[in-house]
Amino acid sequence: MLIAPSLLSCDFSVFGGEIARVDQAGADWMHLDIMDGHFVPNLTFGAPIIKKLRKYTEKPFDVHLMISEPHRYIGDFADAGADIISFHTECDSDIDTTLRLIVERGVKPALAVKPNTPVDAVLPYLDRLYMVLVMTVEPGFGGQSFMADMMPKVTALKQEIAARGLHTLVQVDGGIARDTIAIAAKAGVDVCVAGTAVFGAPDAKEAIDELKALCK
Ligand code: DX5
Ligand code: ZN
Repeated sequence: MLIAPSLLSCDFSVFGGEIARVDQAGADWMHLDIMDGHFVPNLTFGAPIIKKLRKYTEKPFDVHLMISEPHRYIGDFADAGADIISFHTECDSDIDTTLRLIVERGVKPALAVKPNTPVDAVLPYLDRLYMVLVMTVEPGFGGQSFMADMMPKVTALKQEIAARGLHTLVQVDGGIARDTIAIAAKAGVDVCVAGTAVFGAPDAKEAIDELKALCK
């Protein structure tokens, strides 16, 4: 299991230091949540901040766009150092165009689905995706409860990925903690985002080690 700490729960007054801290604690990827106050009812930060953070780690930047028109900002996030860009099937941009923009910039593309969106929404694009993100909370805020009833979506995706002979990763985001990560692991999830569980813990390394151990 790969663990991608969500920086949404970090101390933003020392953002770079928090990246370095979870890097040393064994984070596999850095999950960066971008919110526009329109697609979701919350605001975070944009590409200029990501660009400044790039020097604090060599680990992949997993940029989760919760914005209405992702196609307008792909170039900015690619320039800022994104390695993976996820955007939502429920956004207002043309999915095909947005995927093309991401791939043209040499970034790995991922599609995300909110809890009420069936996995069917990503199937037409599956062959072109590095990863599918199955949201296990309504996007917008950290610290919400894990929706275990999303696991059938994970199982269905894993089956379809295997049937097509693909290597697409499946990620879940929201409510991953000590008491929920085994449920995700059992369903076949490859990458878990964890905000509160990592940044709310007294020791980030212990938290990450424990999350990984609970998957075995
Ligand atoms: C929610 C974000 C998540 C969030 C997860 O919209 O996409 O990445 O930070 O936070 P926790 O792990 O606290 O549920
Ligand atoms: Zn996220």
